[in-house]
Amino acid sequence: MAGNKTFTMIKPDAVKAGHIGAIMAKINEAGFRIVAMKLTKLSPEKAGEFYAVHKERPFYQELVDFMSSGPIVAAILEKDNAVEDFRTLIGATDPSKAAPGTIRALFATSIGENAIHGSDSDENAQIEGSFHFAVTEMF
Ligand code: RTP
Ligand code: MG
Repeated sequence: MAGNKTFTMIKPDAVKAGHIGAIMAKINEAGFRIVAMKLTKLSPEKAGEFYAVHKERPFYQELVDFMSSGPIVAAILEKDNAVEDFRTLIGATDPSKAAPGTIRALFATSIGENAIHGSDSDENAQIEGSFHFAVTEMF
C-alpha cells in the first residue's frame, strides 16, 4: 500500500531566487499538509551523506557543492499517495523535460540546479525525513 508521507527540500537555487513562497503555494494547492518544516543549511559532509547513493556518479561532487552552497527548506509532507503524487508535482529531473506547470518546469534552471527534491520511495521518504527531523518535531 502506498504511504501517505514524503520528504522534500527546496534547493539552494530556488531559495536564493526568492521562490520559497511560490513553491509552498503550489505544494499547498496540490493538497499536501506540512508535517514538519525548517529553513536550514547543509554542510558539505551532510550533503554528501544525504546523496551518498550517488557517490559513484560523475555529478556527485557538483551535487554536494551545490546542495551545501546556501540555505534550503526541508519539509515532511502528508497526502494520500504522497511519494508518487509529489514526484508528479515536481516534474522530471531535467527541467527541459518537465511537464508544463510542474515546479521544476516553473522554477528549475538546469538538470543540476533543479529547484526541489522529492523522495523516490516510501522507504526513502522515511529515511530522509528522519535525517532532518526528530520525531518530536513532526506534527
Ligand atoms: P532528487 O533526488 O533531488 O529529487 O532528484 P531526482 O530524483 O529527480 O534525480 P536523481 O537522479 O536522484 O539525482 C539527484 C540530483 O542530482 C543532480 N543531478 N545532476 N548533472 C547531472 O547530470 C545531474 N544529474 C542529476 C540533480 O540535482 C538531481 O536532482
Ligand atoms: Mg532522487
